[in-house]
Amino acid sequence: MRKRIVAGNWKMHKDLTSAIELCEAVAAALSPEDVENTHVVMAPPAPFLMAASDVLSDCDFVTIAAQNCHQADSGAFTGEMSAAMVASVGADAVILGHSERRQYFGETDALIAQKIKAALAEELVAIYCCGELLADRKSGNYKAVVGAQIEQALFDLTAQELENVVIAYEPVWAIGTGETASPAQAEEVHAFIRSLLAQKFGASVADQVSILYGGSCKPDNARELFACSNIDGGLIGGASLKAADFVAIVKAMRVKDEA
Ligand code: PGA
Repeated sequence: MRKRIVAGNWKMHKDLTSAIELCEAVAAALSPEDVENTHVVMAPPAPFLMAASDVLSDCDFVTIAAQNCHQADSGAFTGEMSAAMVASVGADAVILGHSERRQYFGETDALIAQKIKAALAEELVAIYCCGELLADRKSGNYKAVVGAQIEQALFDLTAQELENVVIAYEPVWAIGTGETASPAQAEEVHAFIRSLLAQKFGASVADQVSILYGGSCKPDNARELFACSNIDGGLIGGASLKAADFVAIVKAMRVKDEA
């Protein structure tokens, strides 16, 4: 069975106190049944990674992710953090290539490919984000765009390296807009991504890669998205900032066991 994952991307929100409170509230609200087949990830801002990982050290179903890392091991890169630094404060994963990093910080697929290599070298799981702009969706070009993002960032990896990659399909027009891709729209692209991975790495490898949906995923639409066969979970932005909403989205994953 593919790993089911619900990951919260807090972006640049919270302070230390409310970050710790959110971690504690999420861990306390989930029952063993809720997380029997679902892995929960929380990605707080970098200054809170260590506190979050300390607070959750006794909780075996929630792990911590960073929202970015630099591609180099170390060096004169003021303001940056390496993958080794992320790992050293207790994070298990790092989100890479988020559309906000692409849009506001000029990250390209080539750069993100280097970051993925750096993360994997430190045994972090790389949560690689891809997704088309509204113009690509409207022109019908979205598969070509997403396909190029997958190819350029992931096709230099070995099948073994790919085992530690999680893909998040996040159509940019759905992020923070309240507009969600329909289950059919999301499933189409997820299946397409998996077919690309199958062509390159083989069907059995592709079948093991978790592909998350992101973009205005909320308690009221998570179930219908998670019911889709190629959607293995969600990368949640706004709704991950409130414990009740995030927990409801984690619980929505149980739809997969009801079939
Ligand atoms: P959203 O963000 O859920 O607020 O749309 C998702 C993301 O950017 O990862």
